[in-house]
Amino acid sequence: MAFIVQGGSILPSSYANATEKVQQTLTGQLESFTSRYIADLGFWKIALTILLALVAYDQFPAYLKPCIVPIAEDIMSPKAWVFKQGKEHVEYRKGLSGLFTNKAIATYLPVQESIYDQFFSQFVADSKANDGKPTAFMVRFREINCALSLRTFFGNYISQDAVQRIANDFYLVTAALELVNPWRGKRVADSCQVDFARCAAACKENMARGAEPTCVVDQWVLHMLACERYRERVAAGETDAEKPPNLIPVFSDVEIGRTLFTFLFASQDASSSATTWLFQVLAQRPEMVARVRAENLAARGGDRRRPFDLDMYPALPYTRAVVKELLRYRPPVIFVPYVATKKFPITPDYTVGKGAMVIPSCYPALHDPAVYRDPETFDPERWISGDAESKTKNWLVFGAGPHDCLARSYVPLQMAHMIGKAALDIDFVHHPTPRSEEIRVFATLFPMDGCQLVFTKRE
Ligand code: HEM
Repeated sequence: MAFIVQGGSILPSSYANATEKVQQTLTGQLESFTSRYIADLGFWKIALTILLALVAYDQFPAYLKPCIVPIAEDIMSPKAWVFKQGKEHVEYRKGLSGLFTNKAIATYLPVQESIYDQFFSQFVADSKANDGKPTAFMVRFREINCALSLRTFFGNYISQDAVQRIANDFYLVTAALELVNPWRGKRVADSCQVDFARCAAACKENMARGAEPTCVVDQWVLHMLACERYRERVAAGETDAEKPPNLIPVFSDVEIGRTLFTFLFASQDASSSATTWLFQVLAQRPEMVARVRAENLAARGGDRRRPFDLDMYPALPYTRAVVKELLRYRPPVIFVPYVATKKFPITPDYTVGKGAMVIPSCYPALHDPAVYRDPETFDPERWISGDAESKTKNWLVFGAGPHDCLARSYVPLQMAHMIGKAALDIDFVHHPTPRSEEIRVFATLFPMDGCQLVFTKRE
């Protein structure tokens, strides 16, 4: 793989093929990220190599450890599980794997359906209040994703006031990553974790009473209780006690709150970006919305009010293709910064030094014309009749290796649920401006004009 060297950065040649605007934005962001990072770390002494690389990303993990901006450690706590490495990280993560199985996800769907009802009505009301004129919906998309995450993680343990407050304030956490008033971001993060620990305590009481699980924290606490019962039976000398998969301790309320905060931190910006583009890109293509609508109606047996369930998912190949194409076309997470833990050859003719920063970006991989024909065209068909599904090495939307996205199967399902329901319940029209296709990076990618839409109710 050939690299272009640019002001301290080394960029793979395919990067040069990305559309000019996106390329300029990414280059600018990379430079600004680098200078902020260096300033923040006092990193001058370290020989710094920035690689914007797609080569062999999946083979990196043996030599790399994640290094999100240092403020992320302050915000999430240095003790947060995502900063663990090696066996310790693998073990902790195994204990979370049950939270995103189909069985667990099925229990989260009713609360998600109610969030869509609530916010889609609000979107329609917003447009009406603005006399049917377009408004920037990016902020609303951040709010719906925050509410969706909080209700999925904590069900009804979290108060509506707390959901509202966190949805309003979370942008301060994102801004802190860009080193804008980091202490305000930290204050929001700390107060979220206090709320979350309270929810964990309420959940433990509820689950101990034998309640049915309806959210992520329920599923996790149930698993803890099952492990605890197993340990008690073994300690009592029982030999036939069935061992639960992935034995985990009963975590403290604070630890549960801290871990679920890492979920919110990981999901909020990426999901908000994906939602914003999903609505903008589809609103520009009414024929695709019509196909999504028809497919979702058929999956509901013609009853558009029927809530989404997991059995419908296999019957939505076009909706799934739209979601995958959206994530390819506008990947939300463009950089995943790592540090090399030892010297290793990243390409046959370039060796990364120990301590170098390596920043793989999925963008060039997902827009490589040698892999995805006509990559700047939004074409869901490439996932149905084309060969996109087979290009697994380039599918880096959710990262790669031991720290890849915990929710990589859950996210496409949740996005399919959202856009399928939207297509059935509301109409949405995009009003393009000269800045609609320009990219703004606020941790993740957004349209520069904030996504100008008008929503109306479908009768
Ligand atoms: C469109 C939505 C999303 C995208 C594009 C996305 C993408 C990513 C990426 C690129 C990484 C870093 C992977 C690496 O280091 O190689 C990551 C990590 C992670 N994501 Fe996501 N994510 C999304 C939504 C979510 C959601 C909804 C959740 C939780 C419910 C979540 C939980 C996590 C966690 C916990 C990690 C860190 C895993 C670890 O350190 O072991 N993500 N995600």
